[in-house]
Amino acid sequence: MVFRPKDTISLARNYPIHLRALSKKLFPSRDFYKIIFDGKSVFNHILNEIREDNINEYLEKELETFNRMRGRTVRGCSYSSGIVSRRQAYILYASVRIKKPNTVVESGTGNGYSTAFILKALRTNNKGKLYSIDFPEIEGRHYAQDDFYKEKGGAVIPKGRSSGWLVPEYLHDRLKIVLGKSQDVLPKLLEELKGSSKN
Ligand SMILES: C[S@@+](CC[C@H](N)C(=O)[O-])C[C@H]1O[C@@H](n2cnc3c(N)ncnc32)[C@H](O)[C@@H]1O
Repeated sequence: MVFRPKDTISLARNYPIHLRALSKKLFPSRDFYKIIFDGKSVFNHILNEIREDNINEYLEKELETFNRMRGRTVRGCSYSSGIVSRRQAYILYASVRIKKPNTVVESGTGNGYSTAFILKALRTNNKGKLYSIDFPEIEGRHYAQDDFYKEKGGAVIPKGRSSGWLVPEYLHDRLKIVLGKSQDVLPKLLEELKGSSKN
């Protein structure tokens, strides 16, 4: 892995955010694997499904967009993709494969990396729909200091794109993006979903 000067500056500037993200990436709880997947071998077995697909290559290629990106949020964080780690995405994938839900609600679509893995799992299950909520911060657009929470970091959507743009076309059929702040739109969405599940 090559460290570019921009990455080093970003690391120094956003140190507490990076540190928290790093510890989550490195130390996923063993209990979690045990409770959700009945052990790590089941989890690893499910992951073979992803290895047989080219989704990682596709997403990596699309994410190259962020290599050219310069700039900072009004809160002083360097722009970034803000995506979850690959391991976190795999955990989401495997959880959806195991639980086979009819409905999934995600808060924070962002560029749509985690969204893509949830949708891929729903597609393999051949059932279920994902409602993904996002209040996006767009590259280069002006925002007030308090439009976003302080710890949000530099996650932005490239200009000209919209929330979830990373999701490959073939996975769009089970996705509904709900734009707005979760604290505003989630209660109404949950009411609607409760209503529709009674019908
Ligand atoms: C770290 S990014 C999400 C990363 C994404 N899950 C992925 O793996 O690509 C967080 C997203 O949540 C959005 N967001 C921030 N505050 C929000 C809020 N109150 N309600 C909904 N979305 C919010 C951010 O603008 C950003 O698009």
